Amino acid sequence: MITFDEALSCFHLTNGRVSMVISVLKDDAGVSELVMPYVGAAIPSCEDLNALLPTEEFASFDSLRQLLPYCLPTEDRGDYRPTMLCAEDEQGFLTTEMVYTGEYTVTDGKPALPGLPATYCEAPGEAQTLTLTLRDPVTKLTARLSYTVFAEHDAFAASVTLTNEGDRTLYLRNAGSLALHLPGRWDMLHLEGSWARERRPERVAPALLTRQIESVRGASGHEHNPFAALMAPDATEFDGRVYGVSLVYSGDFRICVDENAEDSTRLVAGINPRVLRWRLAPGGSFQTPEAVLVYSGSGLNGMSQTFHRLYRTRLARGPWRDRERPILINNWEATYFNFDHEKIMKIARTAARVGIELFVLDDGWFGHRDMDDSSLGDWVPDTRKLPRGLKALAEDINALGLRFGLWFEPEMISPDSDLYRAHPDWCLHVAGRRRTEGRRQLILDLSRAEVQDYVIGAVSRVLASAPIGYVKWDMNRNFTEVGSTVTPGGELHHRYMLGLYRCMDAITSAFPEVLFESCSGGGGRFDAGILYYMPQTWTSDDTDAMERLKLQYGTSIVYPASAMGAHVSAVPNHQVLRTTPLNTRGQVAMGGNFGYELDLSAQTPEDIELIRQQVAFVKQIRRTTQQGVFTRLMSPFEGEVTAWSFRDEERLLLFAARRMSFPKEQPPVLRLRDLPEGSLWRDEQGRVHTAASLAGAGFVMPLPRGDFQSTVVVLERVK
Ligand code: GLA
Repeated sequence: MITFDEALSCFHLTNGRVSMVISVLKDDAGVSELVMPYVGAAIPSCEDLNALLPTEEFASFDSLRQLLPYCLPTEDRGDYRPTMLCAEDEQGFLTTEMVYTGEYTVTDGKPALPGLPATYCEAPGEAQTLTLTLRDPVTKLTARLSYTVFAEHDAFAASVTLTNEGDRTLYLRNAGSLALHLPGRWDMLHLEGSWARERRPERVAPALLTRQIESVRGASGHEHNPFAALMAPDATEFDGRVYGVSLVYSGDFRICVDENAEDSTRLVAGINPRVLRWRLAPGGSFQTPEAVLVYSGSGLNGMSQTFHRLYRTRLARGPWRDRERPILINNWEATYFNFDHEKIMKIARTAARVGIELFVLDDGWFGHRDMDDSSLGDWVPDTRKLPRGLKALAEDINALGLRFGLWFEPEMISPDSDLYRAHPDWCLHVAGRRRTEGRRQLILDLSRAEVQDYVIGAVSRVLASAPIGYVKWDMNRNFTEVGSTVTPGGELHHRYMLGLYRCMDAITSAFPEVLFESCSGGGGRFDAGILYYMPQTWTSDDTDAMERLKLQYGTSIVYPASAMGAHVSAVPNHQVLRTTPLNTRGQVAMGGNFGYELDLSAQTPEDIELIRQQVAFVKQIRRTTQQGVFTRLMSPFEGEVTAWSFRDEERLLLFAARRMSFPKEQPPVLRLRDLPEGSLWRDEQGRVHTAASLAGAGFVMPLPRGDFQSTVVVLERVK
């Protein structure tokens, strides 16, 4: 899969469908640098692509460097565009030059990244990895660039290991993961949002400026997701060239897309340099997070489907990766902080009657937490609410035939907590400054090993104390006053993430049978980094079905349905006060990991019967929705109707929902363009449809008239 052509001095990484070419470029002085003249649809061999590179003739006024597609663009060498690497020396000079040493290795498989989440292989034949060594001739800073090509996924993974092989201390001011250059003009697609309205696709036209998304919040954030795609201006959901870049990282990131007057587009992705000044002593190393690059020649859906399969099968880990996920009931919107043993049991008994499989006890079970102003850090059950303790509650729930799950917010500390009274210096803070509270809480300084050990110990003790089968790991505020009693400021943002990943790794490895779901004020940390530790994430705090259409549609641009928590909640909805039919709420939630978040004990008998039917239906089809191929068909951002489909070897599940109705409207017709060629599908009336007719004429959805209606149709594959 990876070859080196001596004559042309180029490496070719390919799986037969996609190719990446890396060339060694020697200048007149005999110094070699690495460029990436091509990534995209497979080319048969490593042809001489240097003809694609710009020449001096076309260079602007002062430098060819800002036109070349460097694998590792560096600072202060005449490359004035966003760069990927900057190492400040002891005098404060930023000049960084990375010369290819001629050393490279090709290995089968894909090495793990120390302390960081990353995609992986299960067998050596699944991927090959090229590692190239570059060195600064003056400081001896050494960069090892890794590029992996996957055999079965049209994706490349890239990361950099930086080592100070000199004898002077350096400070990393920028340490990116991937640079990608494409000739021509490209739309940038990214996912914007805010609390309760996360991950809406925004397509930004080419412009002669730097388009940039970032976070400095200590989490990937509600506002921007660590993902961007470059789309050919004529690319659509089903056609055209799309390059998607996703960072396997949950902290402060930056992705910028820079276009210049010479019609060259550069994307750089990595840790946000705004919060980085990392001391690299002689002998020290720094590992960048991984960036995953996906190429699709079949539009945005093609790109999304590659991300879905790769992330579902080779990023998510553990026994729950391939298991059907349980249907859950969560008490948050049913009770908020106001519950006790009996109230929980009342909901759980109804849940058992309708076939629900897991009860999740949300916030408020510990310390003396009657609202959000106390007790984070004191992970001890509140005996006022649970007089017989957590174990007795979990056992009572187990006795009904349900698993028991529990909410934590392990990274936080309330000023009103025993933990804070004992360790007031354990939170992020700057001595002498006010400590800004968010949701009445502060953030633990997870850069410190003893604080990590506390978190691991406290959560593990609770998990070992009762039969707990699920954890919701929440994180409800962003960074302020990012200081520490031990860690330097320019390292703290990233060391926090390394500490967090260590905690998540230790706890999830010690309790492999527990299903972990992450959360951050809803979907404030929905990223590929977290998915390595926890296979699912709570999509958003907005549970309204109409809003969820947009949320799930937007999230699916990168993340698989098996990663999305999706619950049916009460009406009027608590976030937008809208009333939608229970049927619609259920069918929308079926597009993710299905559950309920309402007071089941307060529903009408008719609604309980419908809930029982929904639960039974989800059990029949969830293998398809959680592990099948997902396709976006009609966008909630473009019209009143949203539609999508799921398909596996056995069945095709079609979903459509309408927001607002209008006179004389026709039922939506779904054109299913990505079915296997020659396949045949039988609908619920026994009619058999060919893949060709479903792609051409399409399928007429029996969507009922009226606002907020939805329908699901299942077709069985007969050939
Ligand atoms: C966050 C989560 C909610 C809920 C509350 C509890 O907002 O997103 O689902 O768990 O915290 O305080």
